[in-house]
Amino acid sequence: MIRPRIAHTCQLRPAELSQIRRLLDRAFPGGFDDADWDHALGGLHIVAADGDQMVAHAAVVQRQLVHDNRVIRTGYVEALAVEPSRRGHGYAARIMDEAEHIIRVAYQLGALSASEGVEGLYLSRGWLAWQGPTYVLTPAGITRTPDDDDSTFVLAVSAKTPVVVTGTLACDWRDGDPW
Ligand SMILES: CC(C)(COP(=O)(O)OP(=O)(O)OC[C@H]1O[C@@H](n2cnc3c(N)ncnc32)[C@H](O)[C@@H]1OP(=O)(O)O)[C@@H](O)C(=O)NCCC(=O)NCCS
Repeated sequence: MIRPRIAHTCQLRPAELSQIRRLLDRAFPGGFDDADWDHALGGLHIVAADGDQMVAHAAVVQRQLVHDNRVIRTGYVEALAVEPSRRGHGYAARIMDEAEHIIRVAYQLGALSASEGVEGLYLSRGWLAWQGPTYVLTPAGITRTPDDDDSTFVLAVSAKTPVVVTGTLACDWRDGDPW
């Protein structure tokens, strides 16, 4: 197993960022667009590379979520992907170990939007499926995001930030998919 490296976006060379982007383009069957890529930038990347080949990646970026009117500093996992030919060997689990460590140390909550069919990976790691309504805080006001209710998962990290998954959860605004 390749030991993952953790680097802020600013610490990755342009060639490494291009390798990550190409991995994501290959990995996501439904496509990975420029807004998805933008969502993965500006925080910490966890990368596993085998020589010149990028094998696995995820990013943890900071977002503000509002849970029942309480603002929560959240580590949001983006762009988890493993090179198709290297799947089934524990790379995603190893990358998520690092992502969850970052979240536990630096944030009040973890959150992510699970791709269809991948929910089991997160449930097996202790992530909780959100049971309540989800929203986004748009410039025009708070807006329901019903299509994201079933794909939103959270990781509770501290007794100081108890999470009632039947409550309301709103995310900050951004281009592309809000969650
Ligand atoms: C999902 C993905 C990251 C898994 O990568 P991987 O390296 O094959 O996963 P691992 O080998 O680390 O598997 C870890 C565990 O998750 C489980 N798992 C892996 N893929 C899964 C899936 N699609 N659905 C449910 N469980 C899955 C494995 O069975 C394994 O469980 P175990 O520990 O009980 O054996 C990879 O298939 C991928 O890149 N998919 C395309 C991009 C994508 O959908 N990313 C997720 C965005 S939310």
